[in-house]
Amino acid sequence: MFNPETFIEEKVKELREEIKGKAIIACSGGVDSTVAAKIVEMAIHENLLVVFVDTGFMRKNEAERVEKIFKNLGFNYRILDSKEDFLSSLRNVVDPEKKRKIIGAKFIEIFEKVAKEFRAEYLVQGTIAPDWIESGGGLRDTIKSHHNVGGLPEEMKLKLVEPLRDLYKDEVRKIARYLGIENAERQPFPGPGLAIRILGEIDDEKLEIVREANAIVEEEVENFYDFDSRPWQYFAVLLPIRSVGVHGDKRAYGFTIAIRMVESLDGMTAAYFKPSYELLDRIATRITTEIKKVNRVVYDITNKPPGTIEWE
Ligand code: XMP
Repeated sequence: MFNPETFIEEKVKELREEIKGKAIIACSGGVDSTVAAKIVEMAIHENLLVVFVDTGFMRKNEAERVEKIFKNLGFNYRILDSKEDFLSSLRNVVDPEKKRKIIGAKFIEIFEKVAKEFRAEYLVQGTIAPDWIESGGGLRDTIKSHHNVGGLPEEMKLKLVEPLRDLYKDEVRKIARYLGIENAERQPFPGPGLAIRILGEIDDEKLEIVREANAIVEEEVENFYDFDSRPWQYFAVLLPIRSVGVHGDKRAYGFTIAIRMVESLDGMTAAYFKPSYELLDRIATRITTEIKKVNRVVYDITNKPPGTIEWE
């Protein structure tokens, strides 16, 4: 049985030996990077700088929420507003792997700058086992380039520290619960964020739509099911196609939102969740009334494999 207390104790000791200087971590506020940051912070205190990069691809009210968590955890932190920078670098980009590469490169560019300013010698990452296994870590072929494994430029000369490398999600959640980290029960959210939940080219309008739709899905699912009966992941995807519908007494040409809800243990395989029709009804009604540019909502009934969890 995995014991979070023993894991933390041993890791903190190990990290004190390993890190002989300043370190930096990009923390998304998700459970993996927050737990990684907290464990390293317990080892080296203010010598760790926790950075939240606001890419503009985050969920509704995310930056405020994350800052609150950082404050509560007593982190030495910085919040960087890089929204414009990310969006302009993705103009005209349609291919999902390209999107991931560009986002990864941008992250690293911003990071390099902050790391230099802070004089960090170490880079902490919240990589967990499924991330590197799926990124072609030797066990399987490369499925996709997860940005948090996506390669650090050699010239950066930062030493990589990955305290959660051998853990699976449920173990990370156990540590988070043990440490009283308030996002322990949150569903996983991909590093590139909403950028991979808009199929095709990204722009402000589409970001706004998918952000709102996603907030509705999260709110309705969380009101409908208590934590134990909720799906493992539940979110909205914006499709790049438009179709005809009616708004009031007028025919309107609108976007389609796909709803994805899955059951999974660690994201490696997944089964589509069978939600109540009442819940689907509420979600579809709210999305099509509150987001005028959407006139169609569909539900994804694909397992992984053959589908992935994200659409991209
Ligand atoms: P897929 O779509 O490959 O996703 O079935 C498996 C799980 O991984 C999440 N995911 C990511 N997590 N960085 C992350 O930290 C990423 O780049 C990334 N891409 C996908 C996805 O949400 C699902 O939980």
